[in-house]
Amino acid sequence: MKLLVLTFILLTAVFIHSINSQQYVVGCYFTNWAQHRHGLGKFLPSHIDPSLCTHLYYAFANVDLANRSPSPFEVNDVKPSPSTAPVIVNDVAKPAVNGRLNGQLKPPIKQPPPMSMYEQFNALKNKNPQMKTLLSLGGASVNSTQFRNAFEPEKTRREFIRNTIKYLRTYKFDGLDLDWEFPETEADRRIFSTLVHDYRLEFQNEAFLTDRPRLLLTAAVAAYRPKIEAGYDVRDVCQYLDYINLMAYDYHGSWNTHIGFNSPLYPRSSEKGDKRLLNQQATVDTWIESGCPGSKLVLGLGTYGRTFELKQKKNADTKPYGASKGAGQAGNFTASKGFLSYYEICDLIKKQKWHTEYDKEQQVPYAYKEGQWVSYDNQESIEKKCHYVASKRLAGAMIWSLDFDDFNGAFCAQGKYPLLTRVKRTLDSLQGPTTPIRIHKTTQATTANCGYSYNYSFFLLSINYIFPIFIYHFI
Ligand SMILES: *[C@@H]1O[C@H](CO)[C@@H](O)[C@H](O)[C@H]1NC(C)=O
Ligand SMILES: *[C@@H]1O[C@H](CO)[C@@H](O)[C@H](O)[C@H]1NC(C)=O
Repeated sequence: MKLLVLTFILLTAVFIHSINSQQYVVGCYFTNWAQHRHGLGKFLPSHIDPSLCTHLYYAFANVDLANRSPSPFEVNDVKPSPSTAPVIVNDVAKPAVNGRLNGQLKPPIKQPPPMSMYEQFNALKNKNPQMKTLLSLGGASVNSTQFRNAFEPEKTRREFIRNTIKYLRTYKFDGLDLDWEFPETEADRRIFSTLVHDYRLEFQNEAFLTDRPRLLLTAAVAAYRPKIEAGYDVRDVCQYLDYINLMAYDYHGSWNTHIGFNSPLYPRSSEKGDKRLLNQQATVDTWIESGCPGSKLVLGLGTYGRTFELKQKKNADTKPYGASKGAGQAGNFTASKGFLSYYEICDLIKKQKWHTEYDKEQQVPYAYKEGQWVSYDNQESIEKKCHYVASKRLAGAMIWSLDFDDFNGAFCAQGKYPLLTRVKRTLDSLQGPTTPIRIHKTTQATTANCGYSYNYSFFLLSINYIFPIFIYHFI
């Protein structure tokens, strides 16, 4: 009898352990301006595949100082507009002739009720109820002055935070992602710590008072060591944030006088001094050494490339640190000099026969032709980086951004979302059922005053250990 009970207990323990084994985070950034690209570049919430993401970020909301609240950048963020109705692919594929489709009378198109982009975005949770949606506040077009004005004076800050909660709840987001690019002075560092702390506290209070799941709090942060040291009290902010999204790209770009990789995993053996900090490994090490738990770090991956024009067209040095004249040509869809989406790069490689190489030392590909040079990521480099995420026991990976991947599958001949799919598959495959129970992590969350985690870990503890011992002794 005792043997039977023991077996039962062991089985229960194994079962509970596997329930507790955590899924890797796959964060996906949606950008509300990619709707303005033409043709196959146009990106709407209906293009998102919710089965590929655990966390979905809406970039960006503005900092509205007058109203002390987040506010929309795009009119259709909050107002339904016909131009953002989900794309009806079949209708596009088969153009109607004189109102007739293949000789038959064209059936009336059933228009879904018009929805704003926020509504469409958050409705994706119906297809993946586990997925969390967060609103990203700020981004490159909101300057530090705006963040300082909104969050330095205590009264303004408190009001802004209260209005943020209203805003997130009204539009059905599950959390907030702070995208201040970047806190850089000592005063900024204090403001950032305070605002992270206050947001977390208010989110907890609101959850307690309204009996709702607590709103999540994340931040997208700098990757370069001197910027990290200047901008963040790492230990403090990591304690109060749920996840820290490392913007582990843009290490080199057309602002340099030489060519270089956008997002290398490792340094080059030839690099010295601060140049050795320009890679993802250095970023992750800096955050961990500064006191951030690796289990909260999410490694950012770029689904785009940075482009350059080589100084010499003939016999150019095409290896990193070769001479550059500036930004490479704009893409046909993204239409900005200096960078290209992954699908545009695929197009150049396939149609224009760009020459490709893979740098084993830094684990990234690059491509070039006739004086144009691009550093980017492909399925191989993305997979390597996901293995790195697992080896460092990080929380997971995120991509910037959904609209730069080959989301239609029209350019790379690798199916839809080749890069994001590789992230998801690789991280899922590294999710062994034997993942050890992370009691340590959940108890750590207790110090951040998180009632939910505390109860949950106590529940697990009791089911796993106390309850079985109890049964065992009484049978
Ligand atoms: C910051 O942005 C605001 C609003 O766009 C603008 O009015 C202001 O001039 C900017 N300040 C700086 C220092 O760039
Ligand atoms: C843009 O399209 C044209 C014509 O289709 C092509 O020749 C050119 O290489 C493309 N440029 C880029 C950067 O994709």
